[in-house]
Amino acid sequence: MDLGLKGKVALVFGGSSGIGFSIAEGLVHESAHVIVASRDFNNVDKAVKYLKRINPTCKIMGKQIDLSDPKKLQKGLVEILKQTSVDILINNVGGPASGLTQDIKLEDWDKGYQSLLRSNIHATKGVIPGMKKKKWGRILTITSTSAREIIPKLPVSATFRAGLTAYAKILAKDIGRDGILVNNLLPGPTNTARLTELKKKSPAFFNSMAQETALGRIAEPDEIARVAVFLCSAANSYITGTDVLVDGGYTKSL
Ligand SMILES: NC(=O)c1ccc[n+]([C@@H]2O[C@H](COP(=O)([O-])OP(=O)(O)OC[C@H]3O[C@@H](n4cnc5c(N)ncnc54)[C@H](OP(=O)(O)O)[C@@H]3O)[C@@H](O)[C@H]2O)c1
Repeated sequence: MDLGLKGKVALVFGGSSGIGFSIAEGLVHESAHVIVASRDFNNVDKAVKYLKRINPTCKIMGKQIDLSDPKKLQKGLVEILKQTSVDILINNVGGPASGLTQDIKLEDWDKGYQSLLRSNIHATKGVIPGMKKKKWGRILTITSTSAREIIPKLPVSATFRAGLTAYAKILAKDIGRDGILVNNLLPGPTNTARLTELKKKSPAFFNSMAQETALGRIAEPDEIARVAVFLCSAANSYITGTDVLVDGGYTKSL
């Protein structure tokens, strides 16, 4: 299947490792140009060098941006948009603070709001005018199954990600006639650095997550990325305004 991604420009937030990096890699394999953004310069630099090697015909750029800081996000967006318009926006960021609801500090709720919800609204505001001009765009946010069914000790994730479900749905209605599709992808437990940490801290919980999937195992990042790349492609022409679960049957709700 031709995904029609050749020459498209994708901005991948949180693109230096884990699921975001796998999506960037998938897009580069499909000959899209990619801008990788995350907080740490070395992480970004390493990802850019790797992606350039995969497909030397693609333009690969790196940008150091902290999504939890609106000023840094604004500065980064302005600099990027001076150089290029963005056809595909991947909103992705590290997971927020975890713990029992009453134990989470207000500062961590603020940080979760900034990095998960506000940054998403801010970044979409930035790229939509360019997409409207071209009458084509794809916006995809990586959220979590916690948007569909709560996961104990992840109240910040559940709260703001439910908000992102509503945001994607209403945004999709507002800009669908401009050729822009907006979706959220909800990964189940996936083999990234975040989960490796969890495996060390709590092997029993890690194993129980794998057992709770229908497939009896956690996902590899490229299994999430393949769906993300499709949703962002020209081959996806009719999926918009929705949450797409890629969780190996982890979620029990209908
Ligand atoms: N892995 C799973 O099992 C799983 C399951 C469900 C949902 N999710 C969600 O999927 C998303 C990605 O997960 P992952 O496992 O791939 O995470 P990860 O391996 O921790 O990678 C996170 C990426 O985001 C960047 N990042 C973190 N905070 C940032 C910030 N404030 N501003 C800009 N970039 C930032 C990191 O790079 P820097 O450190 O350089 O900033 C890194 O590139 C998370 O939101 C997570 O909650 C993951």
